[in-house]
Amino acid sequence: SMFQEVSGLRTKEKKLAEILGIKKVIIVPGDINVDANTQMLIGKEASEYLTTIADKDFTVAITGGSTVAALKNFMSPSKSLSTLTFVAARGSLGNEMSLQANTLVSKFASKCGADFRTLYLPEKLSETAFMTMIQEPVVKEVLDFYDHIDIVIHGIGTSKEMAHRRDSSEAIIKMLDEKKAVGEAFGYYFDEAGEIIYRINTIGIQLQQVKKSPHIIAVAGGSLKAKAIQAYFKKEPAHQTILITDEGAANAILEK
Ligand code: BG6
Repeated sequence: SMFQEVSGLRTKEKKLAEILGIKKVIIVPGDINVDANTQMLIGKEASEYLTTIADKDFTVAITGGSTVAALKNFMSPSKSLSTLTFVAARGSLGNEMSLQANTLVSKFASKCGADFRTLYLPEKLSETAFMTMIQEPVVKEVLDFYDHIDIVIHGIGTSKEMAHRRDSSEAIIKMLDEKKAVGEAFGYYFDEAGEIIYRINTIGIQLQQVKKSPHIIAVAGGSLKAKAIQAYFKKEPAHQTILITDEGAANAILEK
């Protein structure tokens, strides 16, 4: 029955939150890797959750990605959302504009009647360029936001997909392979034990700053992301995280 299905999901949500060591899990029915529309369900839940926790003048850091992008379809200028400032969690990726954090913050802001801050810098920078850039006032203004972010909304990817999307060099792809990278978030690559094995030299929010934020909403689904999700939460997870995922990923983790 419908009731059994729903209560079955609620039981799985509790178990998964326990396994991952986080505050709460919301599971939507389906599997993104089977039915792409499932991503919209994740976006809807995430957007509703954001509306319930958002408070006046909160700052919200968001990463890019298709899953985070799915929130925008369900946003409207409600009382709690219109005073927010959406901040791009990272500099722009050299590829697909529509999925970049910079693009999403402006779309979210226009949907909610809110404010936004972008960070227009390449993701891959030389050490020297990086050190110079972070001193620049326009960059520093956004970087200072990262120290007091009220809500973080982020995606989680598989290391393979993300390395390809970022056009990483053969040498980097080989290294990620050798070190058995499985998951990626915020530009950090993790192995199955949750160890950070590589980090792209980038301007963006640091993992330590993410962990200091009182609210974290992670959005990632699909059976193919199960290992990536587990890897990301394996070591010292941010306990305040709410993960919004689908049955595809949830079942793959729970059945292990
Ligand atoms: C990227 C983030 O924009 O989106 C990554 O920078 C994340 O950290 C990725 O892993 C997830 O993308 P998607 O499309 O699978 O939701």
